[in-house]
Amino acid sequence: MNLVIMGAQWGDEGKGKIVDFLAAESDIVLRYSGGANAGHTVVIGEKTYKLHLIPSGITHADKRVVLGSGMVIDLESLFSELDGLSGQGINWQGRVLISGRAHLVLPRYRDLDREMDSKRKLPIGTTGRGIGVAYGLKANRDGIRVVDLFDSSIWEKLSAEDRAALEPFRERVREMVVDITYLLYKEKPLNILFEGAQGTLLDIDSGTYPYVSSGVSCASGAAIGAGIGPKDINRILGVFKAYSTRVGNGPFPSEFSRDRDGDLESTIRELGREYGVTTGRPRRCGYLDLVALKYGCLTNSIDSLVMTHLDVYDEMEEISVCTSYNFKGKEFLNFPASLEILEGAMPVLRSFKGWRQDISGCSRYEDLPVEAREYLEFIEEYTETPIDIISVGYRREETIVRKDPWTPS
Ligand code: GDP
Ligand code: IMO
Ligand code: MG
Repeated sequence: MNLVIMGAQWGDEGKGKIVDFLAAESDIVLRYSGGANAGHTVVIGEKTYKLHLIPSGITHADKRVVLGSGMVIDLESLFSELDGLSGQGINWQGRVLISGRAHLVLPRYRDLDREMDSKRKLPIGTTGRGIGVAYGLKANRDGIRVVDLFDSSIWEKLSAEDRAALEPFRERVREMVVDITYLLYKEKPLNILFEGAQGTLLDIDSGTYPYVSSGVSCASGAAIGAGIGPKDINRILGVFKAYSTRVGNGPFPSEFSRDRDGDLESTIRELGREYGVTTGRPRRCGYLDLVALKYGCLTNSIDSLVMTHLDVYDEMEEISVCTSYNFKGKEFLNFPASLEILEGAMPVLRSFKGWRQDISGCSRYEDLPVEAREYLEFIEEYTETPIDIISVGYRREETIVRKDPWTPS
């Protein structure tokens, strides 16, 4: 079975935790987009793994992981991440495969990325990892692919500076290269988990353009980035937080405001430890935006949702969600493409009673307080999508499964 786990908001929804959890039943975990801009956290016992390029299944000793064709790979970051994993006791040798069609990020792209963003009239606030530069060159047909490292006619035409940057990793990469289309064809009977990066609202097409990343982070990106057709995707799971966060600039209609919400943002940021894994930047926080979430469900054909961070609301007396936008007196139920509307939209909120108890020990849906279940059921009704998995803490075991996504329906 081919199962996609993707972000249904602006990234950092907890994809890493969920991929690690569901990887137990998989044979291969394949990352399909993005690069070292991503930061996926996996907590197992006392150990925390912060992954940027390596798929979150790596901590399972018997799983193979694949860096897909839709990714942009900085080899210096890749091997420093792998060395870090070795230091944490993970034996990854022979288990990490890389698509020959993935593109490379050179060190100079990082500088160019920062320089370009600082010169923009409206900076995006990129992670400075050279992502936009690599995808831009790719679209322009000027990129360098992994397989090109071993093509003498291409290699010899690279500048001395670029060759010097790539040379230290060339031989180490050679044995990892794979043609993923044929790998997936051969392994068709196995369970393959497709791990997304970023989220649908940061996707180059479905996101809040131009405040997006440059990869295809939406569900269709799983097919493109894995070298298969969309028909071969069996199930799509969208991960979302019980609230919303965003890093960097761009519209965020349900963002907490000091005037309206007091110090709710700093409370949620501290409780949810909302600081970027890649850059350490504080994440902007806001109410759960159901207009955006429903759009995410529709634009990705999400089969079921995975809700994370429900525990962060444990102490709240009241919880609100955004159910529509108000822009110049007009109500919007559909997520607008227009930046002007998104930036000027005021959230229309609906409140729910909080549960005021620790839910991290709940292991079945029925164990959750009735107030929490009411909140969840409202989201399901609004989005017309079931919530099959609920995460009530960052640890692997703090996860409630209502319906196992690996079981064929
Ligand atoms: P990703 O980019 O989607 O993989 O998410 P990140 O790892 O960037 O950010 C999610 C953060 O929330 C990490 O620090 C996780 O350990 C943590 N986390 C994941 N699920 C939960 C949850 O249900 N509750 C709490 N409190 N933290 C969670
Ligand atoms: P994960 O996979 C959250 C944001 C950046 C910036 C914009 C463009 O951990 O969910 P880029 O460097 O990609 O050109 O930056 O996208 N961004 C993310 N925000 N989570 C991510 O990944 C992100 N990857 C990029 O902050 O606003
Ligand atoms: Mg992240």
